[in-house]
Amino acid sequence: MRASSLMAQKTRHSAKLDQLPVRIVGLLREIGVLGDQRGCHVYVVGGAVRDLLLGQMTLDLDLAVEGDGIAFARAVADRYRAGLVVFERFATARLVFPDGLKMDIATTRRESYAEPAFLPTVQRASIEEDLYRRDFTINAIAMHLNPGEFGRRLDVYGGRHDLRAGRIRVLHVGSFQDDPTRIFRAIRFEQRFRFHLESSTLRLLRQAASMNLIQQLSGPRLQNEILVLFAERDPVRAIARLAGLKLLRFLHGRLRYTADVKRVVLALPKALAWWGKQFPDVVIDRTSVYLMALSSASSPVVIAAIIKRLACSREQSRKLSAGGKQADRILKRLTDRGALRPSQVYRLLVDLPSEALVLLLAKQMSRQQATRLSLLRRYLMVYEKSRAVTTVLTGKNLQAMRLKPGPQYGIILGKLLDARIDGLITSEVEERAFVQEGLGAWSDCRAASRMLDKFLRTKTAKRPSSMVSREG
Ligand code: CTP
Repeated sequence: MRASSLMAQKTRHSAKLDQLPVRIVGLLREIGVLGDQRGCHVYVVGGAVRDLLLGQMTLDLDLAVEGDGIAFARAVADRYRAGLVVFERFATARLVFPDGLKMDIATTRRESYAEPAFLPTVQRASIEEDLYRRDFTINAIAMHLNPGEFGRRLDVYGGRHDLRAGRIRVLHVGSFQDDPTRIFRAIRFEQRFRFHLESSTLRLLRQAASMNLIQQLSGPRLQNEILVLFAERDPVRAIARLAGLKLLRFLHGRLRYTADVKRVVLALPKALAWWGKQFPDVVIDRTSVYLMALSSASSPVVIAAIIKRLACSREQSRKLSAGGKQADRILKRLTDRGALRPSQVYRLLVDLPSEALVLLLAKQMSRQQATRLSLLRRYLMVYEKSRAVTTVLTGKNLQAMRLKPGPQYGIILGKLLDARIDGLITSEVEERAFVQEGLGAWSDCRAASRMLDKFLRTKTAKRPSSMVSREG
């Protein structure tokens, strides 16, 4: 081949990889050189190649090495002072470069599954075999990194063709059975790229789902798939697809995508957008909210079973538990009655995670009751503001005022906080006066509480503006 046409071909090969940021292209070229020095072929594989071919930016790099991938990963880590975690069992290593870039490096391998749904055992194999063990053709394309071959595509199973046709296709009939997480991955890619499941892949997916292999997945593995799916840009479509394929039963047999639940799920993107605009500093765990919306009509028993099935953390459990019918009761109390004081709103909402507040909003949005919705929005704004309110006096101050310690401290400080939230008390002097007011009654909790309520009622009567009005 003439030097000029060889050059042209090389440029063509590297054109896709050259779309990556310059520093990453430079790094990949150097890694390719290292491959030559160590006598092994190195490839970038999987999602990164797929995304590059789709013209999408990706920084999640998976490398495959025909040879000892772990030794290669150590050499790369040494050279670039990258952090390294090795997973010997899977012949994989994860590197974190000083600038934060993450990269997985693995030995090319074949996998065998002792039992369906269990983790595989791995054996070294060629790059072609390594690509064959993968989930879908679109994820089974490699790009060479060695000099001279840099950027050359290795596409043995028609991945590029499927990418162009917008098709999700497994490489072999046992794919879903080997690894049922691929059932969820298929939906994830189908919905993310607006692709379709090729007909025999869809049949195999249904078949694997009917064998209940998903039930054999451990809680963390199932949770990971569900949460990754719900973390997609448009989880609404993914949820509808799960429901359409009758896959929600793997979360719980009684979980239904009813018209009501669907309306709440559909309202969530708007609720999240409103929340993000109003309270950009209150970070919401989107994936949990979607799961909460999905189980929003479920009983506490069903929600508890979902939490158990997914082996949720304590924090996740707290969020999910706040999302069932309890949310309906709170919504009713907020929007059914006459105007509430900010402190009443505060008391109703204070124990709820922020995710449950977004869910309340989505629920109300799904009901198309404009007045109640604007009232709820106002309550949420009032509530978020009141979360920053504190009292000046603390338990120590009460002690210094010679009040006998006991449960009444909680009552006094709680009432003080309410009065602060409602704007009835605005200074330390007033706080002290408030405490002095009931000094005689403090030893008896009930009497103290009654006394303070009376005190607050007189103040409220003088300042009716402390109510949140129902009108906008
Ligand atoms: N893979 C697989 N089967 C799985 C998980 C992963 O075959 N159950 C392979 C695929 O080739 C996939 C690659 O491992 O492309 C990397 O997996 P992962 O990072 O989970 O997927 P990505 O394709 O990068 O997806 P995403 O864009 O969602 O990160």
